[in-house]
Formats: sequence, structure tokens, C-alpha cells
Amino acid sequence: LAACGSDKGNDKADGALDTITAGTLTVCSDVPYPPFEDFDKTTPTGFKGFDIDIVTAVAKELKLKLVVKDSDFNALQSGLALNSRQCDLAASAMTITPVREKKIGFSEGYYDSEQSLLVPAGSSIKSIDDLKGKSVAVQKGTTGETYANKNATGAKVTSFPSDAQMYAAIKAGQVDAILQDLPVNLDHQKDPKQPGKFTVVETYKTDETYGLAMKKSNTDLIKAVDDALATLHSSGDYQKIYDSYFAT
Ligand code: ARG
Repeated sequence: LAACGSDKGNDKADGALDTITAGTLTVCSDVPYPPFEDFDKTTPTGFKGFDIDIVTAVAKELKLKLVVKDSDFNALQSGLALNSRQCDLAASAMTITPVREKKIGFSEGYYDSEQSLLVPAGSSIKSIDDLKGKSVAVQKGTTGETYANKNATGAKVTSFPSDAQMYAAIKAGQVDAILQDLPVNLDHQKDPKQPGKFTVVETYKTDETYGLAMKKSNTDLIKAVDDALATLHSSGDYQKIYDSYFAT
């Protein structure tokens, strides 16, 4: 990878490029977060999902071996995991925000998203205003958590470390709703194991865009990843991956 290799010397103290030049791209992701990331023992990485397909294609483009690690989302979005070099890149349905951009370097956006409210079918909660006096689950460190704290007036907002825990809580009747990214709530809505049990009752146009996150100082890698994404767009590979998850 010429673009990275050429700058090897400069980035030594930083260390972030060492893994890249060794031929491996180590990617952190908070799993499960379907359809973006999930476990799958049958695949080469042990993971599947839209983000996994995107980073698989990026790694292939950059001629790097891909290694994926399950990680805590809050440690990813705060920059901790990247800055302590637990991974070269975070692919975790992570929204590009001004606060995060102070600590993290982002690729160009690769997916547009928004927020939403999931409730059990037949619930009296039809909109965010009905959350007054009710409990709503959010994931720690996410844009959904920020949105709920700002807009769910009078609700008990509980932060969970992961989507898996939020989903378990709503199934057990411990919370009345989940506020989070629309595609993930839609995935729960169509869960074949819980048919018709949960419904998305409201969406919020938050105009979010997901980016691949890297160490801010790792400008060579950010550029290489952006170039790879551009190639995937022009070759039609991005569209193929997109359609395999989101075609209507
Ligand atoms: N898009 C939201 C955010 O950036 C939620 C992302 C959560 N991702 C995950 N893999 N759990 O805050």
C-alpha cells in the first residue's frame, strides 16, 4: 500500500500505520447491531452485516487482511479504542458528529440514517410525547441517547451498554420502548423469532450519516479508505452491498 507505506517513518511514534504495513486491517465493531454488524461463525471474519461487507471490500481494495473484533460502542465513539490502538478502524454504524470529530478521524459518509421509536405491538405509546412517565432504553454513548435525553420529556431514559441488552429488556417487559437508529429497530420489528411483537411507531429526521472511524492523526489511512470507498462507488460494488441489505 504505497500511500501508507511512504509515510511509515513519520507515523512511527503514532504506531497506527504499523499494523497496516504489516498487512492487516484490524476493525472494531460493537456487535450485534443488525443489519450493520452481527456474529456469524460461517464467515472468514466470524462476523456479518452491512458494515462488515463494506470493510471487507475496503480491505480487499487496500490489499489488507481483515480482522474484526467485537468492542464496546462507548469506547469506540469516545476515541478510546482507536487511540489506544486496539484497532485501526471502527466500523460500527457510527454517526459522524462534530463532538466526535474533535477526537476521531472519519471517512466520507457511507450510510444515511435517522432515529426511531420501537414499542411492543398494542402499546399505548404512539409518539415520543407518550413516553412521559414511561421507560425508554437507549444505548450508552449513542446519538439515540442524546436524542432521548433532549426530547423524551418526563421519560425515564435508561442507558444500556449494547443493543442486545436493550432488546432483551424490552422482550422481558423491563422497558416500555427503545429509541435508536431506524434500521436496527426495523430489524427487531421483523425478527422472525418474535413475529409481530414489536413496532416502530415514530421516526425522527436527525439527518445522520455513518462514517468509518480512525485515529485522527492517521491521515494516510483515512485517505486510503476514502479512495477505496470512492472506488467501490464507481465500480457499483457499494450499490450491490447496499441492495443486498436495504433494497425494498
Ligand atoms: N448511529 C448511532 C451512533 O453513532 C448508534 C450506533 C451504535 N452502533 C453499534 N454498533 N452499536 O451513536
